[in-house]
Amino acid sequence: MDEILKPRALVTGGSAGIGLELAKLLAAEGYDLIMSGASGRVQQAAEDLRSYGGKVMAVQSDLSKSSGVDALVEANKQSGDTLDVLVLNAGIAVGGAFLDLPLEKHLHLLDLNIMSTVRLCHALLPQVIAAKGKVLMVSSLSATTPTPFESVYGPSKAFMTSFGHGLREELRDTGITVTLLHPGATATEFHARAGMGTTAFGDNSWKNDPALVARQGFDALMAGVTSLVGGDEATQAAGRDHLITSEEEKARHHAEQARPGSRPQS
Ligand SMILES: NC(=O)c1ccc[n+]([C@@H]2O[C@H](COP(=O)([O-])OP(=O)(O)OC[C@H]3O[C@@H](n4cnc5c(N)ncnc54)[C@H](OP(=O)(O)O)[C@@H]3O)[C@@H](O)[C@H]2O)c1
Repeated sequence: MDEILKPRALVTGGSAGIGLELAKLLAAEGYDLIMSGASGRVQQAAEDLRSYGGKVMAVQSDLSKSSGVDALVEANKQSGDTLDVLVLNAGIAVGGAFLDLPLEKHLHLLDLNIMSTVRLCHALLPQVIAAKGKVLMVSSLSATTPTPFESVYGPSKAFMTSFGHGLREELRDTGITVTLLHPGATATEFHARAGMGTTAFGDNSWKNDPALVARQGFDALMAGVTSLVGGDEATQAAGRDHLITSEEEKARHHAEQARPGSRPQS
């Protein structure tokens, strides 16, 4: 009997946080998965997701390097000719005053958040088009505000949002959709990894549940929605405010939360 082919999804940064929650939803929906992560724990995450019954391939590679992107693209090629869902989620922030940080840290962020997005789209979109599939780009609410004290992060996400909207229009006639998810602050390891433990973002208690953000993104992806804010009602309200607030005011507000030492004492 012929094997029944299941739809295939690739999730970058699938080993933790929002990406892991998205991978769980895709696995539960019957997708075979290719999950990428920077560290070895992507193997354990993949093992856990096999309990949903599909095939799950783990790829450990550093996507801030072109060789890491090539390794993921090659692994994907080995496992199929078409891709039904592409989730570009791996990303980092770097907290601290712009001039206090070594230039290399800023450039590393740009290599991951911008260059890997462009490299992966160029390599993988033909497979998505072949499947008439769907793309989810995990941008950020920070794409819609200046982000002092994580100064290159917001601009990197503004790039992703604008790039995604452009591709969506350019590829309109191919039958694929591109969805831009803009999460507000979410309770993952993200801000701790960014070295922002002493900022207001260092406290996970007030932030959005990654499972909620992923569910909203997943539903929008499946419905082919163009763009959405991910998070609770306060986050949705912040998203609406960003549309009508001056860049100066948004920058001031962001600085209050992201400045080292701004974390309220409990
Ligand atoms: N958390 C928030 O407040 C928030 C808000 C808005 C937008 N976002 C966006 O949401 C996305 C996911 O963030 P998250 O909060 O889920 O972060 P997270 O919990 O820190 O997870 C990040 C994921 O990206 C992977 N990753 C990190 N550096 C990588 C590299 N150089 N190469 C390959 N993979 C790498 C990590 O792999 P390892 O675990 O193996 O290192 C992990 O799977 C990011 O693009 C972020 O910008 C987050």
